[in-house]
Amino acid sequence: MKLATKLIHGGPTIDQQTGAIGIPIYQVSTYRQTSVDQFSKYDYARGDNPTREALEETIAVLEGGTRCLAFASGMAAISTTLMIFSPGDHLVVCDDVYGGAYRVLSTIFSRMGITSSFVDATSLAEIEAAIRPETKGIYLETPSNPLLKVTDLRGAADIAKRYGIITLVDNTFMTPYLQRPLELGCDIVLHSGTKFINGHSDLLCGFAVTDNSELGQRIRYIQNAFGTGLGPQDSFLTLRGVKTLKVRMDQSQLNTEKIVAWLKLHPRISVVHYPGLPEHPGHAIHNAQADGPGAVFSFELDSYETTKRLLENSHLAAFAVSLGGVESIISYPAKMSHASVPKEERERKGITDTLVRLSVGLEDPDDLIADLQQAIG
Ligand SMILES: Cc1ncc(COP(=O)(O)O)c(C=O)c1O
Repeated sequence: MKLATKLIHGGPTIDQQTGAIGIPIYQVSTYRQTSVDQFSKYDYARGDNPTREALEETIAVLEGGTRCLAFASGMAAISTTLMIFSPGDHLVVCDDVYGGAYRVLSTIFSRMGITSSFVDATSLAEIEAAIRPETKGIYLETPSNPLLKVTDLRGAADIAKRYGIITLVDNTFMTPYLQRPLELGCDIVLHSGTKFINGHSDLLCGFAVTDNSELGQRIRYIQNAFGTGLGPQDSFLTLRGVKTLKVRMDQSQLNTEKIVAWLKLHPRISVVHYPGLPEHPGHAIHNAQADGPGAVFSFELDSYETTKRLLENSHLAAFAVSLGGVESIISYPAKMSHASVPKEERERKGITDTLVRLSVGLEDPDDLIADLQQAIG
């Protein structure tokens, strides 16, 4: 079955009770039991909910995993999954990791004795050099946020295997439609499903997917213990959203290519970070591991004044946090996704005060270009 078909038919799609084409919203917290000796599969919704399960099975199939857990947000997925590590463990993390992941790693997990080294993960040598005897995992995002830096996932997974450690990949920007890290040898895929997977900017959700049953069981245990699972309404909406992932992603990518080509020639833009561009340093590696460059890119403007004018005068692309919706979203990493990263650290990473990120939606690209033009001035 090809991925477009899996999006529609990959998980449970028919309600067994009624034949309804769609899994109903099981809006309950508890389930009636009939035997004192043997409780049924469902007892309490923190652990199991049929609507959430249908979504989890669908995402597992799309990522080529055997187990998926759905969470109340991307950060709930990331934080719950990181709880598989123990005090004394060390992680090697890409240095422009999503700001929220940086925050939990550097201020919360560090307090619990789980430490991280942040490295430029475009270099496999740097990843390997940061591995210590106590290192237990490599945590990656590719293309990364917001500089769209590319990590060789096969190479990183090979290093991890040699050291007997695991690889975790935040696949939010790509979605399983464009990139499937488990097929490349990685162990756990994480998602903010809030973004392209749901695609409509109307809920938060997250996923952890693995093809390792022991890891899946450990994440599931913590999810139930912490109560970080996704609610039934949001599971239903995400199941509905994911069915159109292919057509949304295809169109947003076409729009992105057109806007990137225009921006590259704009006199006020000095650089465009997009793995679809042949001059992008990670272009070849990205093409070898993904089926498309995606619909998010960032670019540098010539001054803070131009940056401010663009952000405040953009009418079609909403000046907002987040990405991956049907509507274009223009955001300012320095004060939004990476606001929790200290200024010196942020600038060292290249997340400057003149960097803007655009997530391209489904509007007509000519209208988006005209709007950007009037906003840039
Ligand atoms: C790459 C990436 N990972 C994780 C997250 C966190 O997801 P959520 O906002 O659903 O908690 C985000 C949110 O912007 C993100 O962009």
